Amino acid sequence: MAKFMKAVQLQSFGPLDKCEFKLIEQYPLPPLKEKFVRVRVKAVAFNPIDYKLRLGSFGAKVPMILGADFSGIIEDIGTGATTYKLGDEVYGMALGFAKVEGAYAEFIDVSEDIIAPKPKSLNFEESAALPIVGLTALQICERANIKKNETVLIIGASGGVGSMLTPLVRSIGAKIIATAGSDESAKLLHQTHGIPLDHIVVYQNLSMDQIRDKVLAVNGNKPIQVAVDLFGGEMKRVCAESLGLYGRVLTIVEESDPNFKAAIPFYPAQNPRNLFGISGTFHLVFVAAPCFGPQENWILIQEGLKKLSKQIEEGHLKAPPVEVVGTLSVETVVKAHKMLESHKSHKKLVMKL
Ligand SMILES: NC(=O)c1ccc[n+]([C@@H]2O[C@H](COP(=O)([O-])OP(=O)(O)OC[C@H]3O[C@@H](n4cnc5c(N)ncnc54)[C@H](OP(=O)(O)O)[C@@H]3O)[C@@H](O)[C@H]2O)c1
Repeated sequence: MAKFMKAVQLQSFGPLDKCEFKLIEQYPLPPLKEKFVRVRVKAVAFNPIDYKLRLGSFGAKVPMILGADFSGIIEDIGTGATTYKLGDEVYGMALGFAKVEGAYAEFIDVSEDIIAPKPKSLNFEESAALPIVGLTALQICERANIKKNETVLIIGASGGVGSMLTPLVRSIGAKIIATAGSDESAKLLHQTHGIPLDHIVVYQNLSMDQIRDKVLAVNGNKPIQVAVDLFGGEMKRVCAESLGLYGRVLTIVEESDPNFKAAIPFYPAQNPRNLFGISGTFHLVFVAAPCFGPQENWILIQEGLKKLSKQIEEGHLKAPPVEVVGTLSVETVVKAHKMLESHKSHKKLVMKL
């Protein structure tokens, strides 16, 4: 059994030109914790949470190994872990207390509750790209209780989460209005997801009020029922102000700036643009929440992954297209973070091992 592994470790926080990543050739493997398994990593996907942690958000501490989304093969099994056998092919989302370190490494130690068998029809790279974006999209749909013929605004539909959410919303029979940052993004949404071009609001050079008014105009100057914010900041206000009676706003983006005054218009009630005035609801969706709480909640991640696999295997959902950036190295990690932060690719970026 291996005693050491190669890993890319973050040694200091900061923007890419200030932080330090180091390839550790002989990173000692700790004894396996109870009910944990060791997975030989075959692929890791990059997500915005990676660069947010690199910048020091979410109370991260260095040195640390980043990498939340992974796929691989069961290499070792800790005492009390009974779900998998050696050689099983799995995928998972490792965040919070349910893992030891991240997946920019040859191995990752995780609770057996936060992994599931990898979808059979997908390769390791496609499977690694799926957990965070897929689980988040599923949760948004469950929490929003979207109904057929409702209108759903998606801010950031062309991104990782958006590209999983859009087909799920369409499959419910809801009408989608999406935002795009450029004509290229709009074209991609049209070609990939069949959203009519006149249902896509290109927000470049528009004020927040203009974006909201365009969204309402697309909907025949009628308020909409569900608005999903996948970008954050003032877009939360655009979402809230676009809603009608019993509308639901959902956001997945936390605001790390302590001075950010959540621009959500809650009160006064007599203004129908305010959430109280429409008897609206505001949902905060955090896919990793079960991993930060008691151990009995971790299994919710496995249940979500199984649902996701089922949707894929039954053909209701497609895995996002992937772009392999490279193999395990500091160069691959830096290149992927750069591409991710500049939104240079509309594919899920993956590192192959
Ligand atoms: N709470 C959770 O559980 C959870 C889970 C997953 C992700 N997240 C967070 O959710 C966000 C999206 O994740 P992702 O993986 O989808 O990211 P992503 O792939 O980088 O996509 C970001 C999206 O935002 C759009 N965008 C960029 N600039 C914008 C602007 N100024 N206004 C409006 N939209 C803009 C981009 O498309 P256009 O340029 O075409 O607009 C793109 O569609 C990230 O902040 C991530 O950390 C949270």
